[in-house]
Amino acid sequence: MADKSQSVIGIRDIASIEEMGAVEDLQREVWECADIDVVPRMMLHPAREVGGVLVGAFDGARLVGFAFGFVGLERGRVVLHSHMLAVKPEYRGHDLGFRLKVAQRGRALTEGVTRMTWTFDPLQSRNAHLNFAKLGVTSDDYRVDYYGEVSTSPLHAGAGTDRLWVTWQLDSPRVARRIGETEEGAGAAGLESARAELEAAQALVRVGGDGEPVTGWLAKGAGGGLVAVEIPGDVNEMMRRDVALARRWREATRGAFRVALEAGYVVEEFFRIERGGAYLLRWAGA
Ligand SMILES: CC(C)(COP(=O)(O)OP(=O)(O)OC[C@H]1O[C@@H](n2cnc3c(N)ncnc32)[C@H](O)[C@@H]1OP(=O)(O)O)[C@@H](O)C(=O)NCCC(=O)NCCS
Repeated sequence: MADKSQSVIGIRDIASIEEMGAVEDLQREVWECADIDVVPRMMLHPAREVGGVLVGAFDGARLVGFAFGFVGLERGRVVLHSHMLAVKPEYRGHDLGFRLKVAQRGRALTEGVTRMTWTFDPLQSRNAHLNFAKLGVTSDDYRVDYYGEVSTSPLHAGAGTDRLWVTWQLDSPRVARRIGETEEGAGAAGLESARAELEAAQALVRVGGDGEPVTGWLAKGAGGGLVAVEIPGDVNEMMRRDVALARRWREATRGAFRVALEAGYVVEEFFRIERGGAYLLRWAGA
């Protein structure tokens, strides 16, 4: 999409079986996966019938993005678990990922569901920025090799399929502010005050001058209850250039997240910094 002002992209529900076929095609395009890993219309349709949410972004009649979530139970509580979010490469960076998530949230709240969960690769800086900075998720759960070794998608190849399991508390003031639903302390304001805290945080992993991960220790009472985990700015490019380096990044960040979350820290924010990106984690008590 050359100029987003030239094109009005509409977001709406996908209800017809034919349009679900377009969702299958878009999965193949975005994840470059084999058919075995495509969620088929035969699954999208019944999942939707029992409360799942399937929303699409349309440029005219053409599907250019979608979000799909199904209903789940988390410790006995009903959640919408968002399994996929995808935007065509040439349409990225124009808020469509954000708008699809906001549409999902609206549908869930209408059904009385106040919590959404999903997973993402914490080495993916773009996803981290969308999830934490723009949407206001938090995470206290790290999954090692979530999809195992069996995925056919190149997006899952090279450095394992570790995931942060995130929670989006749909009815929270934090989320309302972050998505710009309320004026007070909207969006960037809340984020900027948290950015100041990043300075005080002890870095468990930081980007070294040579691009290597430099690891630190979790000291008792670290940084007044704040720690940081840095990541490179573009791990996909790194994966193409030097997959061994990407693996070292996986190992370093996996270790840091696991130790910190085990110690009672919660991942609260993500910031873009000159060296790449930085997660901010706050101690949430025993
Ligand atoms: C993740 C995805 C859906 C995001 O879609 P999108 O339409 O680009 O999302 P948005 O435009 O709303 O937000 C992307 C943000 O990341 C920013 N961004 C782009 N590259 C970035 C990078 N390397 N590091 C940090 N942020 C980056 C964009 O500038 C934008 O933020 P801004 O609005 O503050 O400027 C899309 O990249 C995609 O389909 N990826 C492949 C599939 C995938 O990973 N899906 C999610 C997991 S299932």
